[in-house]
Amino acid sequence: MFGVCYYPEHWPQSQWEQDAKMMADLGLTYVRIGEFAWSRLEPNPGEYNFAWLDNAIATLTSAGLKVVMGTPTATPPKWLIDQHPEILPVNPDTGRTRGFGSRRHYDFSSAVYLRESMRITEALAVRYGKHDGVVGWQTDNELCCHDTALSGSALAKQAFQDWCRQRYTSIDQLNSDWGNVFWSMEYRDFTEIELPIGAVTETSPAHRLAYRRFSSDQVIAYHNPIVEIIRQYAPGKFITHNFIPMNETGVDNFALAAPLDFTSYDNYPLGRTDLLLTGAPKEQLMPYMRTGHPDFATYYHDQTRGLLNRGFWVMEQQPGPVNWANNNPRPAPGMIRFWTLEAFAHGADCVCYFRWRQAPFAQEQMHAGLLRPDNTKTEAWSEAEQAMAEVTALDIANQPLQPASVAIITGAEGLWVSDIEKQGEAYEFNQIQLSYYSALRELGVNIDFISVDSDFGPYALIIAPSLPIVDQAFVDKCQASSAQLIFGPRAGAKTSEFGYPATLPPGLLQQLIPIRVLSVETLRADCMEGLCWNNQQYQSGSWCEQIDAGESEILARYDNGEPAVVRQGRSTYIGTLTNREFLLDFFQQYCQQANIQTYRFGADIRVSQRGDLLFAFNYSAEPQTIPLDKEAELILGNAIIEPHGVTLWRS
Ligand code: GAL
Repeated sequence: MFGVCYYPEHWPQSQWEQDAKMMADLGLTYVRIGEFAWSRLEPNPGEYNFAWLDNAIATLTSAGLKVVMGTPTATPPKWLIDQHPEILPVNPDTGRTRGFGSRRHYDFSSAVYLRESMRITEALAVRYGKHDGVVGWQTDNELCCHDTALSGSALAKQAFQDWCRQRYTSIDQLNSDWGNVFWSMEYRDFTEIELPIGAVTETSPAHRLAYRRFSSDQVIAYHNPIVEIIRQYAPGKFITHNFIPMNETGVDNFALAAPLDFTSYDNYPLGRTDLLLTGAPKEQLMPYMRTGHPDFATYYHDQTRGLLNRGFWVMEQQPGPVNWANNNPRPAPGMIRFWTLEAFAHGADCVCYFRWRQAPFAQEQMHAGLLRPDNTKTEAWSEAEQAMAEVTALDIANQPLQPASVAIITGAEGLWVSDIEKQGEAYEFNQIQLSYYSALRELGVNIDFISVDSDFGPYALIIAPSLPIVDQAFVDKCQASSAQLIFGPRAGAKTSEFGYPATLPPGLLQQLIPIRVLSVETLRADCMEGLCWNNQQYQSGSWCEQIDAGESEILARYDNGEPAVVRQGRSTYIGTLTNREFLLDFFQQYCQQANIQTYRFGADIRVSQRGDLLFAFNYSAEPQTIPLDKEAELILGNAIIEPHGVTLWRS
């Protein structure tokens, strides 16, 4: 299933019918509209203008398209900001108000803005909730994009004080939990509490952790009532949101997704590759400059799917150069088709292209669409057409997505800890999680991202790359599960209030693996040293824990002979960051022992499974040969995968 993002308000009405016809002719089913259109929907306070939207919906649905309605709350109009300037958020780093003139200029702690958001959402939902042509809803747009999860406003401070009152009940408890005796940081009352911003030097890590938790809760508290309103007026219609990944926003996306029917993701592999590889040597970027890094798209597809553990949508799919990365290359020929198949292979139910036509004005005029401003078709058009024909013929959408055998535990808390207490340059939550994911993907393993609250039952191998805060319930679940558990460095290293465990790290995890981390050293990322595992030399560095292994089995050692990787029963603890080769070999052995099929076809090939369909994606500009079994029933391509091509077989 396919769709497109369309902004009827950007085009003369005379063009809509032709647009709708072309969309339908292309084979699209869904068209997402409405997000960002507040100034047209309510040009003056309380004065609604739905006539144009009525017409747009009528035109689109007459052509057979189904409408996904976006709520316009990512862009409060000027009159609303002028009426209530306190809606504007404050940049916590600079203390400056973030003004009107782009988007996402609102503070999650503004009760006025919540009220106004509910009002405009209700007006839309009342009008279109039961409209047959409006089949589903998207809330807001990319909540917390552009670093908007945190605000340093007076409203945020007051809400934070209230949040602290709820969580800690007494100020003495808060002082004790945060260790405020240190540096005379003690408060006498909740009303004295500051936001942990703008201080001379480092503020207390517990204070900052509380601020991150609070800010995440504020986003959810803002979003939930909006979902409820749509539910009330649009019974039976789906509600989704196009998520920004958790590792960027620091919001607990599992909690944010809870009231939705399914999750969505906006897939811009080239923009993301450019940003994630900022500063990386050019040798790392260049091979993937026009394809995207082999793991960046699926890393987020899998995470998006994991939020509700069901099929997801790509609500926006990059069609050509974007406008917002450091540099914005054209995709290599074939990549729009490639990314589309890849999304379906990872559990997408629908892919929508962003956007229908490049806008000849405003901020995104350099951003490609399926059409150019002169209405001619871009390369993306025919590639999307090809992908649609293939996906439809294969009936991929009806292939059930089995639970993976391997799960990665993710969550916002690991990110918060890594942001708050750096300790070294190279311990970075997302880098670590991605490196683990990437090694497993190079082994062709399907992966589910799960939270600590998920059912561990389906998994043979559960890996926690960065899980510094755990509770007893988690330990109990681990004990009850029969999976092999692998913990990355720093697991269990912090108490729930960002303290050091009295029994030393890994704290509560000592019930699973009775070791003690005696000290931690951090090293420059390029100062790697040796790591010996299975009589083979690998590399260790950046974050190295000195481990008292106790009675646990020592699997790998540092150059100095001390334990680096240890195991007790079903629990394995990796006390350091390593090179990629180690992760590949190490995870491969664990997969083999757990009877999990691996496909190690080289750095540029990724194998993914959906139902009984196996896909091999070739990220390189050279043909690649894969050793297919004789029994493999080829469906698309062949054992020599074309440059940027896809081979599909049934196993
Ligand atoms: C997305 C956003 C869209 C558009 C697009 C451009 O992040 O949701 O509104 O700005 O980026 O690539």
